[in-house]
Amino acid sequence: MAPTPFIIVAIDGGAASGKSSSSRILAERFDLLHVDTGSFYRQLTSELLQRGVPPTDLPALSAALDRLRLDTRLTGRSAQMLVDGRPAGPEIRSARVNEQVSHYAAVPEVRGTLLGYQRGQADVARRHGLRGLVMEGRDIGSVIFPQADFRFFLHADPAERAKRRAREGQQDSIAERDRIDSSRKASPLTCPAGATDIDTTHLTLDEVVARMAAMIATRLPAATA
Ligand code: CDP
Repeated sequence: MAPTPFIIVAIDGGAASGKSSSSRILAERFDLLHVDTGSFYRQLTSELLQRGVPPTDLPALSAALDRLRLDTRLTGRSAQMLVDGRPAGPEIRSARVNEQVSHYAAVPEVRGTLLGYQRGQADVARRHGLRGLVMEGRDIGSVIFPQADFRFFLHADPAERAKRRAREGQQDSIAERDRIDSSRKASPLTCPAGATDIDTTHLTLDEVVARMAAMIATRLPAATA
C-alpha cells in the first residue's frame, strides 16, 4: 500500500471570511495540525502592547522581537504558540488588539519573526504523527507555503462579514483591517495565482467545508466522516 501523503493546506482570506471555522473542521476530518497564524500576530501584538513597544519604534521593536522565545504546544490538533513559555489569553481578541494588530503585522520585522516559526509547523505536525497541516492566514498560499498541496482563498461581502463578527459579540472594524492588510508592502492580503477562490457570502459553513474537503479527498482519504 502506498504511504499516506503528508499534505499542506493553505487557507487565506480577509477578516471574518470563515477561515477559522472551516480550518478547524478540516483539521479534524483529515487528521491535520490546525495552525491559526492570525492568533500568532494577535499574540505578538498583545505582548508588544503590554511592553509599551509601538509598531513605529523600529529599534525597540526589533530588540524586543530578538529576545522573544517562540515554542509550540498542541491543544488537541491546534498549534498554540508559547511566547517565552506563555500561551495566548483571551486578550488577543480584545478591541485594542483588533484595532492594533494590522499595524504590527505590516512591519517586515514582525513578519520575519513569524516566517520561520510558521514554516516549522510542518515539523511539529510530523513529530506528532499528524497527516499534514491546515494553516490559515493572509499570506500562507503566497509566501509561507506557495507550494502547498491545496491553496484556498475565501472571501465574502463586507456586510455579511461584519454581521458574522457582530454575532460573535466582537467589536472589530474588519473593513479597516482589510484595508491595511491589503495595501501593506510586506506580504499583502491577496488571492495568489492558482489558488481556489471561494465566495462564502451565500454559503453555509458546511457548504464551504464540503467544497474544500472534496478537493483534499482526492489526495488524502478523510480520517472521520
Ligand atoms: O480572525 P480574523 O480573520 O479577524 O483575523 P486573524 O486571522 O485573527 O488575523 C488578525 C490580523 O493578523 C490580520 O488582520 C492581519 O493584520 C494579521 N495577519 C497577517 O498579517 N498575516 C497572517 N498570515 C495572519 C494574520
